[in-house]
Amino acid sequence: MSGRDPAAAAAAVEALASTSDMTRLYEHYDTLRSADPIHESQHEDFPRCWFISRHEDLYAVLRDKRFVQDARNSEVFAGSEGPFADMVSRILIFLPPGPHERTRGLIYRAFTPKEVERRRPRIETVIQELIAGVAARGGGDLLEDVLYPLPMTVICELLGATPEERDMLSELFAAQGHEVSDVGSASDSHHAAADQMIVRFSEEVKRMLERHRKQPGGGILEALIEASDNGDQLSEDEVIAAIYILIGAGHETTANLLGNGLAHLLSEHRDQWELLCSQPSLVPSAVEELLRFDTSVQFNQRVANQPLVYRGFEMAESDRIIVLLGAANRDPEVFPDPHRLDIRRDPNPHLSFGAGAYHCLGTHLARLEMQIALDALVRNAPKLATAGTPEWRATWMMTGLERLPVTF
Ligand code: HEM
Repeated sequence: MSGRDPAAAAAAVEALASTSDMTRLYEHYDTLRSADPIHESQHEDFPRCWFISRHEDLYAVLRDKRFVQDARNSEVFAGSEGPFADMVSRILIFLPPGPHERTRGLIYRAFTPKEVERRRPRIETVIQELIAGVAARGGGDLLEDVLYPLPMTVICELLGATPEERDMLSELFAAQGHEVSDVGSASDSHHAAADQMIVRFSEEVKRMLERHRKQPGGGILEALIEASDNGDQLSEDEVIAAIYILIGAGHETTANLLGNGLAHLLSEHRDQWELLCSQPSLVPSAVEELLRFDTSVQFNQRVANQPLVYRGFEMAESDRIIVLLGAANRDPEVFPDPHRLDIRRDPNPHLSFGAGAYHCLGTHLARLEMQIALDALVRNAPKLATAGTPEWRATWMMTGLERLPVTF
């Protein structure tokens, strides 16, 4: 490849790994993409690692069966032993191809788009109530008061949790903290907190399972227990891991995606907010643009399952691949004027839900929740404004705000 500048790319990786300024991620991605789009890292935090930043390459890598998920990826987040590491190694997203296909199929039997769609009226009620609560006070923290409770309430109700169980699960996930999900930044104390959380989570979910066995009341939890394929069923531990990933992957991602998007719409892209308020029919396309513009899941990881040559680059077995979804979403080869937030953008082939075998299982629910929430906000709170400068958390993999203070 001509004109490569691996030194500039290495400086961009260093900046990405050390920055606490999340508003600058996209500058560093631009450098990586133009200087060395398939970049072999020499960084001490990322040994034997390749950073992929062009849309075309990401799409190819995510669909290439030689790049797989495996337990080594989960260890980057969770360490190699303890209850948290055990749980993480059992969850769908980190399973290697064969077990992944089986588990995904069984979970999908319970968590279908049809089952999700049935919840539409209830999701509308939940968001109306949450907005009314914060509007009555004239404002508040949109993240804490609306955007976190929405997906947590929805997924817990889908599972068939009681309000008390939902509050307990929210508390447990909040206590786990954001840092454990960020590569390299999870400290021993976070791992200890995460271990404690998992022990309690498993006990509580076992209690919920027991209650549902005695008094079946519907919901995905029962569907998960019963899901079977040619006599094959999920074990109790696998059901618990499925519940963990549905809650874990389903609430922070959605809350932060909306938080990031609203922070942009209400500040430097206010014209797009005004446009949306005048034409709420643009909500579905606006949601796709918010997914593209500043996604909450900035990267995925894969491992090469054999020595291979990818586009002329020799990769060794076990080399790690960091798939920079946030960089692909601003690739000028695919998105004209990529740094412009344009709620009418069409087509919008963003990669925020990934691609290939591990493609997000919750796209239907995520889109439904985000569309209903955005629609309710533009119709009920057109004067919504940020109160102060949004403060970004210094976590790279899962980007999001500390809080989003607003006035109505
Ligand atoms: C805006 C919100 C969301 C975003 C940006 C998002 C993003 C992603 C991404 C990028 C992946 C692929 C990971 C990989 O390739 O390694 C993924 C997987 C997954 N997501 Fe989502 N997600 C969102 C919402 C949800 C929701 C609401 C649920 C369910 C309640 C969910 C459940 C899952 C599950 C179970 C997987 C694992 C799929 C598998 O390994 O087969 N996600 N998500």
